[in-house]
Amino acid sequence: MAEKLLEINHAQIYYATLAGYVKAVDNVNFDINEGEIVGLAGESGCGKSTLIKSIYGFIKYPMKAISGEINLLTNGNKLNMLFVEKEELRKVRWKYISYVPQASLHVLNPVTRIKKQFLESVKREHNVKEKEAMDEVKEYLKSLGLPPDVLDSFPHQLSGGMQQRVIIAMATFLKPRIVLADEPTTALDVVVQRGILQMLRDIQKELKNSLIIVSHDMGVHYQITHKIVIMYAGKIAEIGPTDEIFNNPYHPYTRLLINSLPRIGDREQRSGIEGSPPNLLNPPEGCRFNPRCPSKMKICEEKIPEMVEISKGHFVACHLFQKNGKRVKEDAE
Ligand SMILES: Nc1ncnc2c1ncn2[C@@H]1O[C@H](COP(=O)(O)OP(=O)(O)O)[C@@H](O)[C@H]1O
Ligand SMILES: [Mg+2]
Repeated sequence: MAEKLLEINHAQIYYATLAGYVKAVDNVNFDINEGEIVGLAGESGCGKSTLIKSIYGFIKYPMKAISGEINLLTNGNKLNMLFVEKEELRKVRWKYISYVPQASLHVLNPVTRIKKQFLESVKREHNVKEKEAMDEVKEYLKSLGLPPDVLDSFPHQLSGGMQQRVIIAMATFLKPRIVLADEPTTALDVVVQRGILQMLRDIQKELKNSLIIVSHDMGVHYQITHKIVIMYAGKIAEIGPTDEIFNNPYHPYTRLLINSLPRIGDREQRSGIEGSPPNLLNPPEGCRFNPRCPSKMKICEEKIPEMVEISKGHFVACHLFQKNGKRVKEDAE
């Protein structure tokens, strides 16, 4: 059995606004094991970035951890990243868990050469001499197939794809057990995307660590993940092994997400799912997907569906399914 690296129990993370709380992550539960590539999927505004930031302990006003646990399990210790001291965070970041933020191209400082930025990020947590660190960095970049002259460049001299590779190299240099990557390929063209995904996959294969990759693009999840967590409006709709999610999706939302993917031979661009995710200040009662759901029943407006396991490792939170895995009605196809 692979070791469990992260457990998320009833995590609630809201944003405090003048109008009330935005319930961005609301009672989320799942675990991550060593060696897994986990995809976090769902349309924009469903809480993916909020959850990823919280896993990294990056919780800043107006974001607020309300309750629950996001436990990082390190050598027999448990660290709840939702309520953690700065000093504790410093110890685990980079070495144990690292984070490639969304829109990370703004992460690099435009007036500093890559070399200096790399060294700063490494030395901050790692007590090494500059010369030795530099040699290691060069070796590492070489092993990832990056040209050595990137180190002497300023960010603007590099393409978007190359900047993203540098950021990923920085995030993985100290061999963290968990790497979080938020939309790492969004805004890059398809060929570059493929290269970045390959790089993430190669690093994961080498380190045998866990990678959590966030994307609104199911195509990205299809290419790289072992397991997919589908989020809708701050809650988990479905979790399952990637081939199961694509071949045997249960939740109507998952089905729509998959059907909105372009297929080979498509002449027109497929439109997304009709409508948009709700405002999380006042999410719909019952199942939050009910206003957009093609299979809506009366109960869906009244009761929040519980997560049930239908086959091994495949969970769904939908009133169409009962605890025994039987479908309640058949017209959901
Ligand atoms: N600073 C903020 N203040 C209030 N609401 C926010 C803030 N940041 C994000 N949100 C809201 O939280 C919800 C989840 O956002 P986010 O986690 O960025 O979603 P995703 O990454 O899936 O697109 C959205 O409804 C968004 O409008
Ligand atoms: Mg996001």
